[in-house]
Amino acid sequence: MKHFINIKDISSKNLKKIILDAKRRKIRRKNLNTLDADADSPLKGKLLIQMFEKSSLRTRISFYIAIKQLEGGALTLRTDELHLTKGGESLADTAKVISTFGDAFMIRTDSDKKLEIFKKYMTIPIINGLSPSSHPTQVLSDIFTIEEIKKKPITNLKICWIGDARNNVINSLVEASVKFSFKLNIGCPKKFQPKKNIIMWAKKNYGKIKVFDNCNKAAKNCDVIFTDKVISMNDKVDKVKKLKEFKNFKVTTKVMNHAKKDAIFLHCLPRGSEVSEEVFLGKHSKVWQQALNRIYVQKSILLYCFEKLR
Ligand code: CP
Ligand code: NVA
Repeated sequence: MKHFINIKDISSKNLKKIILDAKRRKIRRKNLNTLDADADSPLKGKLLIQMFEKSSLRTRISFYIAIKQLEGGALTLRTDELHLTKGGESLADTAKVISTFGDAFMIRTDSDKKLEIFKKYMTIPIINGLSPSSHPTQVLSDIFTIEEIKKKPITNLKICWIGDARNNVINSLVEASVKFSFKLNIGCPKKFQPKKNIIMWAKKNYGKIKVFDNCNKAAKNCDVIFTDKVISMNDKVDKVKKLKEFKNFKVTTKVMNHAKKDAIFLHCLPRGSEVSEEVFLGKHSKVWQQALNRIYVQKSILLYCFEKLR
């Protein structure tokens, strides 16, 4: 059994195996319906329990479809319907009970600490479906999308992130840049540069990361431009002030023009004011393909957790 909590804790070899398995499985499903199972039914009879402490559209649906396509089933829990620390039911007891009922657990949480507690007390694989510090399933799926569109390994591409460089998605992207060895330019206001511990870790592990306080410079000659909401779900900040601080860090056509001619635009969604309508709905944008691909990568992440990747 394996957990999928942070990209930095998973070997490059296994991350690449997940991507390869997702590619193979996606091709093989061409003529199947959404809920038809893959021919090998690798997780027949297995139950994925998923729990959301925060809103979700894509992660929720993609994990549901993913486990169904592997011939398992899903049960989605809403935290407001559980005892969960109310009335004396501890996280440890919750974790133990979920472990006895389910075969894998996917959690979207508002606390990295909780994830650690669940990990400590669970005897089934745990998948991090977004925490304040990390969004690993999103970023791995985005690597799949980039390689699918660009038809080459991400190692040979230059990736750019514009926007808040202290949130969960960029943290996972920095980790991925080390594991997949790709160049990563980050364009962000000085105050929102990546967290020191993450940059130190990347440096120690030969990361190829450059940080700019100008988004045109960051985007120069890049193959992919990423952004994410300025205000993340976990942000407890003065929202008006933070949005103002990002006024020069919006992905516009001008920014895209600094990237390569065939550059693509990606956004994990949901979106805010960090990208212009023209770019978001324009020809460089691959956001819908990006969202749909979550299904294929979630499947291979599940198989990795069950040690069933071939
Ligand atoms: N990108 C993403 O994780 O979307 P949801 O918040 O809708 O799950
Ligand atoms: N950074 C965003 C990602 C949403 C999928 C958030 O945490 O709200």
